[in-house]
Amino acid sequence: MKPFFESSEPDLSLDRVDGRVKVTGAATYSADYQFPNMAYAVLITSTIAKGIIVSIDSKKAAAVRGVLAVISHLNSPGVPGYGDVKQPAERAAVGTAFRVFYDNLVYFSGQPVAMVVAQTLEQANQAASLVKVKYQKEAHQTDFEENIKNAALAEGVQRNKNSPFQDYVRGNPDAIREAKVKIEATYTIPTQHHQPIEPHAIIAVWEGADKLTIYDKNQGVKSAQGNLAQAFKLPRENVKVNAQFIGGAFGSGIRVWPHTVAAVLAAKKMDRPVKLVLAREQMFTSVGYRPYTVQKVAMGADEQGTLSAIVHEGVGQTSTYEEHLERTILASRAMYACPNVSTQYRLLKLDVNTPTWMRGPGDATGMFALESALDELAYALKVDPLEMRLRNYAESDPERNLPWSAKGLRECYKLGAEKFGWKDRTTAPRSMQKDHLLVGYGMASSLYGFHRHPSKARAIMLANGSVIVQSATMDIGPGTGTAMTSIASKVLGISPEKIRFDLGDSSLPDAPGQNGSSTIPSVGSAVHVACEALKKRLSELAEAMPDSGSKSVSHSDILKYHNLPQVEVTEESKSGPERDQYSMYSFGCHFVEVQVNPVTAEVRVTRVVTCADVGKIINYKTARSQSIGGIVGGIGMALMEEAVMDHRYGRYVTNDLSSYHLPVHMDTPEIEVIYIDKPDMVVNPIGSKGLGEIAIVGVAAAIANAVFHATAKRIRELPITVDKLV
Ligand code: MOS
Repeated sequence: MKPFFESSEPDLSLDRVDGRVKVTGAATYSADYQFPNMAYAVLITSTIAKGIIVSIDSKKAAAVRGVLAVISHLNSPGVPGYGDVKQPAERAAVGTAFRVFYDNLVYFSGQPVAMVVAQTLEQANQAASLVKVKYQKEAHQTDFEENIKNAALAEGVQRNKNSPFQDYVRGNPDAIREAKVKIEATYTIPTQHHQPIEPHAIIAVWEGADKLTIYDKNQGVKSAQGNLAQAFKLPRENVKVNAQFIGGAFGSGIRVWPHTVAAVLAAKKMDRPVKLVLAREQMFTSVGYRPYTVQKVAMGADEQGTLSAIVHEGVGQTSTYEEHLERTILASRAMYACPNVSTQYRLLKLDVNTPTWMRGPGDATGMFALESALDELAYALKVDPLEMRLRNYAESDPERNLPWSAKGLRECYKLGAEKFGWKDRTTAPRSMQKDHLLVGYGMASSLYGFHRHPSKARAIMLANGSVIVQSATMDIGPGTGTAMTSIASKVLGISPEKIRFDLGDSSLPDAPGQNGSSTIPSVGSAVHVACEALKKRLSELAEAMPDSGSKSVSHSDILKYHNLPQVEVTEESKSGPERDQYSMYSFGCHFVEVQVNPVTAEVRVTRVVTCADVGKIINYKTARSQSIGGIVGGIGMALMEEAVMDHRYGRYVTNDLSSYHLPVHMDTPEIEVIYIDKPDMVVNPIGSKGLGEIAIVGVAAAIANAVFHATAKRIRELPITVDKLV
């Protein structure tokens, strides 16, 4: 197949098509919509981690001017999909999503237990402060380290023999005992929170008894539509979800959370539009988080550095009521050519809210352990860490025994190392210095699975020659509309200014949510085939015109001649048999320089070169921004981000942006981004794989490895804070 974009083409970067509306404040985010008669809801959340609600005294709250209702399990209208029978004091079966205002049980601290609805936000907030909830406390377990012995194979995995999270064995992992050189270590990643700057927000509007529209911050209008239709027992088409602009999400918007259902309930009960915006503190207990995870990796090699065995075991945190599984141990099966591999994955249920996917979920976690361990083994062998990776390069997928669809990782290593100046690195830890600071160079590999879901797109040519392309896809920040406009412009040969791309509306053609770095591979392919189909249709119409072929006719002329107000096509694109014939991944690597103050132990990331092979790059400008965002997320993961809980109360003490530390501009060094930019024509018609998440995978390990090189201290517990280095 001919590559979609020729590599020799000039830079195809468009400026962000929505850049101006975003920076001028003209973009309408979920909480910005206005409706006459709109009421404001504020959640009241539990102050205990486990127990029973004994009473809710809302008298004082109800007396506040403007208060319309105080809603709780005592008077909630009920969600039809929850099931009709309330079973007080009986905990729901595992796997049952938390049902808001359903019964008197408390599963975690921060759980919504009541909600005030008022004419204004101020009235709702004041009234919420006056609601008195009495609890009967039960002993809770929130301390991961203390309870890790209770970790078990997930019940969902026990039931599913084909689950990828089943225990895995390849070859004879006991070979680790005979390995000439081996290491074994435990790596810890604390709970980390997404914390996009835009908090989660929803406005729910009912039209009559059975038509619902929500303006909601989420990552998938179609999945939110399906979830709410199911919960409220409505036909799918009666639920409309709008999420045109999203101010960051990082995974927190992939599923429908209890606060969303709460707002819909309130709007139903009040019979008027209701707006609910989570307070920053509530963002720490309402929309998931990266689960606390402890991993043990044992790794052995011969004296030449050829891997003989990898044993990778991971335990991740989940809630008592749901099992959240992620790819933590999976990368260790596919990343390196190693004959003997075993992996195990366990879950630990605690009295906390359910975690969810966050920034390269699973792989970012697992590759911190794998890539740190490989670095440790390289030092034990006295082999250069980059050389170590090259010696164990997997030429085909060792897990599935399939060829890679494409893998430019060797080129990534080469280009990245050159650009970074890896050869200038002196091997011994603490051997490099600059201006009295310790200097460390570290690197790590990266991979991310290929996710392509069936997607539809509609392409419409209007009589004035402009084009509208539509799909129910999302933009949580990467610039989806810009990339799709690039694709449409290229296929149709029409200037991008004449193209508009619509997204974030559940009434548009079916598309997956924005997650798993799947948007360009999935929706980009749909836009490609829809535009190809439109082009074909237009050329058929042109051929039907008199003296066609003798001179070129404009698109407007074609439509005018045929007396058509517009020409419209909708096409679907999805994977075929190639999915079972090839193993598909994005690959990459990161090179990091850190400088560490030998007195204060302050770590600064001073330079990063990141290189990725994600197939064809559709838009350099937005792609580069995504890679930079991933690296910044990796800096946060490695050096700052940590949820700290006071286990006496099962409650986070880091519950705002001054105590939960995120990287800011001053923490962000020069970041150089390199792409191999070769189309992978096996995976889809545009030759493009996922980019968003691979950018963070491996970054924390590269930083930890650089810190070891600088200080001779191996930190296996993130974040790498000063206390761990002094
Ligand atoms: Mo991503 S964690 O799949 O938004």
